[in-house]
Amino acid sequence: MKISVIGCGYLGAVHAASMAELGHDVVGIDVDPAKIDQLSKGIAPFHEPDFAEMLEREVARGRLTFTTDMRAAADAQVHFIGVGTPQRGDGKCADMTYVNAAVDALLPHVGHHPDGPSVVVGKSTVPVGTADALEPRVTDAGAILIWNPEFLRESFAVQDTLRPDRLVYGLSSDPQRAEVSLAVLDEVYHDIIAAGTPRLTMDFPTAELVKVSANSFLAMKISFINAMAEICDATGADVTKLAQAIGKDDRIGHKFLRAGIGYGGGCLPKDTLAFQARAEELGLSSLDFLTDINAINERRRQRPVDLAVAELGDVTGKRIAILGAAFKPNTDDIRQSPALDIAYRLKALGADIIITDPAAGPVLAARDPHAPVVATAHEAVKDSHITLLLTEWKDFIDLDPTTLEPARPIVIDGRNALDPTTWKNAGWTYHGMGRS
Ligand code: UGA
Repeated sequence: MKISVIGCGYLGAVHAASMAELGHDVVGIDVDPAKIDQLSKGIAPFHEPDFAEMLEREVARGRLTFTTDMRAAADAQVHFIGVGTPQRGDGKCADMTYVNAAVDALLPHVGHHPDGPSVVVGKSTVPVGTADALEPRVTDAGAILIWNPEFLRESFAVQDTLRPDRLVYGLSSDPQRAEVSLAVLDEVYHDIIAAGTPRLTMDFPTAELVKVSANSFLAMKISFINAMAEICDATGADVTKLAQAIGKDDRIGHKFLRAGIGYGGGCLPKDTLAFQARAEELGLSSLDFLTDINAINERRRQRPVDLAVAELGDVTGKRIAILGAAFKPNTDDIRQSPALDIAYRLKALGADIIITDPAAGPVLAARDPHAPVVATAHEAVKDSHITLLLTEWKDFIDLDPTTLEPARPIVIDGRNALDPTTWKNAGWTYHGMGRS
């Protein structure tokens, strides 16, 4: 099938390459010429496992092209909208500028297609009610709208796109449009559905809500266990053992119960805030609890700072090794990164911070040549007065503490990822989160 993907960020670029991998003929469209230039050469503009190989393969095969020219969408029958909806600078709401601009630019090029009905597929995370408001314009342009939220996790993006745990289709309330768009999207995802992936159909608002409620639930799980970490710190209990024990109850489960420095990234923080803002717009207080979820998450970022100050007293001029800058391992994404936030809080207190991160380190260095970035954990830790593990890269978890040469062997494990016994046996003072 001929497909266009509007927006070539973490979501759009991976989706475009994955659709090509399924055998479709895909054009990715983005307003950023530098990004398009790189993608056109088959070079991944960000770190995402398995993506670079797939991109290179599909570009070389000729099934995947990229352009800044929206007119290229006219050749496609199916158009995915995967642009970002960041938090607005003036509040908690989602910034719909990019979605609106993408739709305005796309609609003049959709309509009659020789291969069959034209379909516009919304993938961006949007406030509930967006698809209903958009549908008349898409219909007037001669296409059918379907809403198909995306659940991919960065660092598992390729796997989550090609082998998702579910597909969600939000369908038009017009039965004929619903039926036609469903058949077209089923054809796009033929191989994924044939592999047994559950495909759930619903109306537009429900599909939009599935996305934001899933992310809010995940944020709630993380803040729940982080609240338990606070109680554990105050009582001398161990939150990792607590999580292990409650997770054995399969109604609770083990996933997303890792206490630490809280959630970051381009999704959970802004989606929970935008969802709450939307509820407030609707005159509902139903999501007020998200204020606490967010407040717990914010507090977690102060905890390693307080521990460092408790250990060192005045941190001014003290060398502090920061292991990790990305918001989680196996990505170079530093958006809303708790690790970087903590690093800069310490810097603001006068500390001499040294950062290392296998993928986000080069991103930081490219952005600011004066950023205190070094290539390895050994370099970062050498002569440091305290070491903070803030992103749980395998390289850091596997470090042999006996080979490090700090000025003072004190480690704060912001992700509860290190083995305390190994570090203590090597002569280090170990602090975890909620495992005092
Ligand atoms: C999240 C969701 O997990 C995806 O399902 C969703 O599609 C995506 O947002 C999105 O909206 O596009 P992602 O932002 O890639 O995916 O990251 P997560 O794996 O959810 O991690 C988010 C943050 O929570 C990270 O900072 C991670 O370190 C933290 N986290 C995660 C914890 O602190 N504890 C945990 O137990 C799990």
